[in-house]
Amino acid sequence: MVSDFKTTKKILVVDDEAVIRDVMEDYLSSEGYEVISVGNGNEALLELEEERYDALISDLMMPEMSGLELIEQINEKEFQLVTIIMTGYGTIETAVKAMKIGAYDYILKPFKMEEVLQVLKRSFEIKALKEENINLRETVNLFKVSEAIANSTDIKTILTTIVNALHEEKGADYIYLYLPNLSLVPDFEFERYSDKVKPYRDKIALDVKKIEKILLKKNSILAPGRRSSQYLQVKTDKLKAVSLYAIPIKINNLNLGFLSMISFSNRVTFTEGYRRFLSILATKTAATIENLRLIGELKDANRDLTEANKTIKENLRQTILGFARAIEQNDPYTRGHSDRVAKYAKEIAVHMTFNKDFIEEIEFAGQLHDIGKIGISHQKLNKAGKLNAPEIKMFRKHPEMGKKILEPIPFMRHLIPGVYCHHEKYDGTGYPQGLAEEGIPLMGRIIAVADTFDAMTSDRSYRKALSAQVAVEELKRNSGTQFDPEIVKAFLEVLDGKKENK
Ligand SMILES: [Fe+2]
Repeated sequence: MVSDFKTTKKILVVDDEAVIRDVMEDYLSSEGYEVISVGNGNEALLELEEERYDALISDLMMPEMSGLELIEQINEKEFQLVTIIMTGYGTIETAVKAMKIGAYDYILKPFKMEEVLQVLKRSFEIKALKEENINLRETVNLFKVSEAIANSTDIKTILTTIVNALHEEKGADYIYLYLPNLSLVPDFEFERYSDKVKPYRDKIALDVKKIEKILLKKNSILAPGRRSSQYLQVKTDKLKAVSLYAIPIKINNLNLGFLSMISFSNRVTFTEGYRRFLSILATKTAATIENLRLIGELKDANRDLTEANKTIKENLRQTILGFARAIEQNDPYTRGHSDRVAKYAKEIAVHMTFNKDFIEEIEFAGQLHDIGKIGISHQKLNKAGKLNAPEIKMFRKHPEMGKKILEPIPFMRHLIPGVYCHHEKYDGTGYPQGLAEEGIPLMGRIIAVADTFDAMTSDRSYRKALSAQVAVEELKRNSGTQFDPEIVKAFLEVLDGKKENK
């Protein structure tokens, strides 16, 4: 994966000739490298087990183990480093063979030290190029993660993408996303295993409590080599943990868990690039959880608000309706009037096939049409005999009063046309505005018919109820003058329908 940002590169020199080892150590050290030298292949392998090296320069012809055998061993153990073979003129073919099995280059003995330096630099460049490719894959994976986060609000989908992105890097053998309190993701697979360790999946156990404890104080745990084994238990001799890296998942300094990766192969060391990738993924995980939590909270708050709003609306609606009924309660002549007007108005609207919302609205407007009478004295309005001029003037204020009562209530404003305009007449001689024909809102025209019909067919303090027959005749007579003829026609059809059903 990504190149290491360490400036001092470590080089292991393997040669059975002490003089070569000394020269190489002196020269390469003076060039800024950190150099260790050993006398044979077995020592080299032991050294590689213990320490991480960037390059190995090995003699080809050595007792015990040849340079070729050493490279084969390095391949087998999956150590990731630049390997260079030193060889005499007669053994070039063998050196080429070494390159075929993975050596980066070879140096011909006798050599000038500048040549060694050149070969070394060139090999590091080749290694960097190889790593560039892996870098690109990291970018693609990060892009996938960002895309998943942008396109999904499903935490399981997002977390799966994050863990898979890490898994697809093919670096770590065991990946564990530890989020103990994330009950909102049932059936989420928090672990990933490489093919290599899959057969031993039941034998790997991470010391979660220990990691958690350390991550409370430190921003990450990097445990290379044997040190990694203190954080995990591996109940098989087949696997040896080589490196562990864990990073907390934090929201506002609160640790929710951690994201960790463990390598069981020498091939992988968690370089800075690797660690950076894990760190980005941990940050994305935290951000995802936080965002979804916020969305959830927002939804809850919205739901609460909507519920509260509904309750308030319903309470207010019932209160206003209560007022409207209270006006009628004290007066035997008008008791039930508004409910009947509402019923007739609704029947007209249904018959004229208006939409559901309008039907609901006109029914409610019918119930409230005389709400403005709340401020007018009952005795005066219900006295026997005709009203005098000041009484008529007062009575005629009730549509205006009704409008004023409903105006401050946003969700009742749409009922105003029914309340304010139910005393308008089709020929323009009504009040309060003297509107005519279609200039009168539809609600007003419908309620006018319903209101007048109920008034005629109910007892009043000044007269007995008229029969339905007489009232119908009266509607017909005033159709086109007082009333909208279309609405009278519809209402008469409603009444006819009722007669037929009887
Ligand atoms: Fe009225």
